[in-house]
Amino acid sequence: MTNNFTLHNGISIPSIGFGTWKTPDGETAIQSIKEAVDTGYRHIDAAAIYDNEVGVGDGIKASGIDRKDLFVTSKLWNSERGYDSTIKAFEKTLKDLQLDYLDLYLIHWPAAAHQFKNWKALNTETWKAMEKLYKDKKIKAIGLSNFMPHHLEALLEDATIKPMVNQIEYHPGFMQAECVNFCKTNDIQVAGWSPLGRGEVLDHPLLKEIAEAHNKSEAQICIRWALQNGVVPLPKSVTPHRIKANFEVFDFEISDSEIKAINALDTIGASGLDPDSVEF
Ligand code: A2P
Repeated sequence: MTNNFTLHNGISIPSIGFGTWKTPDGETAIQSIKEAVDTGYRHIDAAAIYDNEVGVGDGIKASGIDRKDLFVTSKLWNSERGYDSTIKAFEKTLKDLQLDYLDLYLIHWPAAAHQFKNWKALNTETWKAMEKLYKDKKIKAIGLSNFMPHHLEALLEDATIKPMVNQIEYHPGFMQAECVNFCKTNDIQVAGWSPLGRGEVLDHPLLKEIAEAHNKSEAQICIRWALQNGVVPLPKSVTPHRIKANFEVFDFEISDSEIKAINALDTIGASGLDPDSVEF
């Protein structure tokens, strides 16, 4: 298990990203980013809608890390779809994060049929702006989030640059195998949001049993399981000892049979946020 995966355009992505969803802006964001960088995380997962990009940017600055040693992701919010608004939203994110390029920029959610008659065209138009930013070298890799195979298929019909990443909900009890397989077949790296099922899967007896066998925590098992399945987990925490512990997953391995047992779990801890029915 290496500390990096490689995207189809050759860009290296650190295999664990530090999640910032629900991290309060200001001092909490600053301190947690500093803690994460001190711990060894080199990949920060941000988004405009998290409303904390200024704090995340301040934290990156305060950490003292060299910009080139950090992989920073952000995401385009749903209200900004379309060519011109995507370019504008990207510039705002860059300014808030106080950076002059992003490593990865994602369309946060697909425009989908329940909200837009022209959902395919709208995603294509947004994607054209992402391609432009990529060609202008303002972003090292571009991708999607919460795109299911039917959204991806439609986008791939018109894309001139194939997305490098698709970030979806991914944790024991919700591994979205069909979507992950589609991405693997198309050489699109999967990243997993809420790899701990927002903390809701951690008391499952199977995870407890495997955690005890390896002298690790249930959270560490979730993170290691994602890595061994080839997915980039994005654990979020604002708690220093959890930030550290969630990164201590490179010194052990789960067996194939343990992975298979976790893969076989029935649905648990799912957020219920289905891109074809969300109301935002
Ligand atoms: P906190 O930020 O207060 O530490 P996910 O990444 O799946 O969305 O889960 C994030 C949630 O899980 C947050 O509420 C976070 O709390 C909590 N969490 C993060 N790491 C751990 C851990 N190692 N053990 C238990 N809960 C954790």
